[in-house]
Parts: sequence; structure tokens; C-alpha cells
Amino acid sequence: MNEWLAFGIVAVICGLLAVLVRWAGPTEESMDETDEPRHDPAAATRWFDHWHVYRSIVDHDWMCHRGIFDAARQWVLLRHPGPFTLLDTGCGDAGFIRPTFAATGLWSYTGVDASAAALAKARTELAGAPFEVRLVEADLLAFLATEAAGDATTFDVILASYAVHHLPAREKQAFFARARARLAPGGSLLFADVFRRDGESRPAYLEAYVGMMRSQWHALSAEGLAGTCDHVIERDYPETAESLAALAAGGGFTTAPGELFRDATGFHRLLVFTKPPTP
Ligand SMILES: C[S@@+](CC[C@H](N)C(=O)[O-])C[C@H]1O[C@@H](n2cnc3c(N)ncnc32)[C@H](O)[C@@H]1O
Repeated sequence: MNEWLAFGIVAVICGLLAVLVRWAGPTEESMDETDEPRHDPAAATRWFDHWHVYRSIVDHDWMCHRGIFDAARQWVLLRHPGPFTLLDTGCGDAGFIRPTFAATGLWSYTGVDASAAALAKARTELAGAPFEVRLVEADLLAFLATEAAGDATTFDVILASYAVHHLPAREKQAFFARARARLAPGGSLLFADVFRRDGESRPAYLEAYVGMMRSQWHALSAEGLAGTCDHVIERDYPETAESLAALAAGGGFTTAPGELFRDATGFHRLLVFTKPPTP
């Protein structure tokens, strides 16, 4: 009888402890150690099913695509003057690809995106382009990984434009490692994204960035603006230039990146990471 009583008490204590542990904080399954959500490409791309909202943001140049892609063109003209291949991770509708690269040495373009809606637009944008076009519906990290494992194809230039800030830090590092593995010797990783400014926390960044959106992005409908702010608040995890360089170094890019473009706010930047011509 006493044994049963002791067993019962132990079982109740274990149950209480389990409840307390769950109550005390998120489990490893739901969050990583930086409190960032797990990598969820479906969630990251859902907002882009309303592509016209993003298109309007790009057309108003609120995320500085013109300056970024001008700088990208200057870079490839200087550093990749011969024929080159380009992998575009998170390509979206690829709206800037033809105007930026048509008069360069680009001969083969591969665009990867997890959103079928975005890729359908990319197909239209790139119809009749003066370079080979391949569009792939896939998670960008998975694409870089499976191709690294099963396909020796490398690319002279890899572009990541506003696609990596959704990833948790450790997956950003995996992105850099996998992208580096897919870069040809002498290749360039052109990395455009939103950034926290030096020393800025994520809450301070969100307050400043969403504040800017609400005060300046007037041309969006009230619904479009609200949905965009929710997307940013829920899904954006930008790095500072310093923390990004550390993640890139962890992924094998040990040389400090070059900054090819930065807007006046410091939020929108284009960095270039290079792979030496010889291993
Ligand atoms: C802000 S848009 C950028 C589109 C384009 N690169 C540009 O600069 O305008 C982000 C794109 O990345 C895609 N994306 C986000 N996370 C992704 C993932 N894990 N794998 C593949 N695509 C992803 C979205 O579907 C979307 O098309």
C-alpha cells in the first residue's frame, strides 16, 4: 500500500514538473535558442500570394531596388565581364532581372522561389529574355543543399535579394555555407536585404521600420499596409552588418564583405561576398 502511495506521489510530482517546464517557456521544438521562429517557407511566402502589394512597394522604390540593382549591374560588368551564370535565391517575380542583366554577359539564369504565384509572374517577366531561363519552385535552403549533394553545378554569381531575413540566425549561416559551396571559384554572392542599424535591437528596428512604412508608404491601401506591417512584425529577422558578417564568416566567407549600396536610412543595403579564384 505504501509503495503504491509513493508511486502515486512521484507520478503527481513528475506531472506537475512537466506542466511547469511547458509553462516556463517555449520548447526546443517550437523555437530556437534566439527566440526566432523556425524556418517556415510556406509562412514566409504566404504574404507574397498578394503580389500586387509587393509590386507596388517595388514600383515606388521604397525598398531601393533601383539603387541596389544598378550597383549589382556595375559589379558584374566590372568583375564578371565574360559570360556568367546567375542563381537567384528567392527570385520572386524576377522583375529586375532582365533590365539589370540583359546588357551584361549573363547567359544562364536560374530563379528559385517557394511561391508558385511569384514564379508564374517571373515566367511572364522573363519570356523571350536574351539568356537561358530556368525557374524552380523550391525552398531556397533545400535547393542549395540538394543540389550541393547531387549536382556539381556551380554558379558564377548568386543573388539573394530580400529573401534571407526571414531565416533564423543558424539557417542564415547555413545559407552562406551552402551558397559558398555553389559558387564557382572567383564567384560573387550579391546579398541585398533589410538591416538593423549598428546596436539596434529587433524591437527598436521594428518600431522604426514599421513607423517609416506607416508614415511614408501612403500609396498602399489600408488593408495592404496593415498586411505588410503584420508580415514584417511576424516574419522579419534582419541582422546588423556586423552580425551578418559573422554568420557569413561561419559559413566560410572569411573576407569582410564589400558594401555596394546603402540608402540614407541604413535599412536597405547590398553587400558582396566573394570566393577566391583558387581554393
Ligand atoms: C521580398 S520578396 C523578394 C523578391 C525579389 N528577390 C526582390 O528582390 O524583389 C521575397 C521572396 O522570397 C521568397 N521566399 C521567402 N522565403 C523563401 C524560402 N525559404 N525559399 C524560397 N523562397 C523564399 C518569397 O516567396 C518571395 O518571392
